[in-house]
Amino acid sequence: MTNLTGKTALVTGASRGIGRASALALAQAGAQVLVHYSSGEKEADAVVAEIRAAGGNAQKVAANLRDADGPHELAKQVRAVIGHRLDILVANAGISKAASIEDTTVADFDNLFAVNVRAPFFLVQQLLPVMCKGSSVVLLSSLAARAAVGTLPAYAATKGAVDTLVRHFASALGERGIRVNAVAPGVVETDMSSFTKTDSGREVTLNMQALKRVAQPDDIGGAVAFLASDAARWITGETLHVDGGSKL
Ligand SMILES: NC(=O)c1ccc[n+]([C@@H]2O[C@H](COP(=O)([O-])OP(=O)(O)OC[C@H]3O[C@@H](n4cnc5c(N)ncnc54)[C@H](OP(=O)(O)O)[C@@H]3O)[C@@H](O)[C@H]2O)c1
Repeated sequence: MTNLTGKTALVTGASRGIGRASALALAQAGAQVLVHYSSGEKEADAVVAEIRAAGGNAQKVAANLRDADGPHELAKQVRAVIGHRLDILVANAGISKAASIEDTTVADFDNLFAVNVRAPFFLVQQLLPVMCKGSSVVLLSSLAARAAVGTLPAYAATKGAVDTLVRHFASALGERGIRVNAVAPGVVETDMSSFTKTDSGREVTLNMQALKRVAQPDDIGGAVAFLASDAARWITGETLHVDGGSKL
């Protein structure tokens, strides 16, 4: 099992879905976890309580990552709690919006890029002073970055940008001993992919996967914890496809 005892971790968007599962997986492996949320304070409280009840160490932190200074505000809060060493940053918070090329508005496009690309970029920038040799950054990409699934051109472009950032960040930060990778889930049953709760949504999902069930958030949380751990010490600049063999 992954051992992260003594490590500090921040997971953005940890109030729900994949972020919640990642926070729980990191805490189960022994890390102190900062559970970030934006609108879901109650949900974040529940995640913190669940970690503490299992004997772990967790605190909540809040910021709206759509705001230009959201990442800067969050980094300040994080540094106030963890001091001068952040071992693991999971930049998971994200939004999606299904819209055709014709129906995508400038506001939708800007919101998607603000939360999914600008925020992780500046969060890494702002937290770099407290990351050091052995620190690990995990970003959230998507199947949508490599395959035309759904009607998601603008969202997919944000995840293509994430894959590009992974390679450039990994190249720039390798000298400092900081690894940067992404996990690219396929369809996962969360609020974001609520279509998995309908029969037709389930069918479309299973038809494109080699493994015939709908992924749950904890199918992704374990992969995030792996990339953050010493077992992945020679992996950097990589996007790990964790999608049950989607669109093979
Ligand atoms: N589910 C999938 O099928 C799937 C597939 C591939 C990739 N992904 C990626 O995986 C990540 C997590 O997705 P999910 O399915 O777990 O999504 P989700 O269930 O909708 O949860 C989204 C999380 O992001 C946070 N968030 C949203 N807008 C925010 C903002 N403006 N500022 C700060 N935090 C914000 C939310 O916080 P609050 O609720 O506290 O506001 C929530 O914790 C995303 O990057 C997504 O693109 C998901």
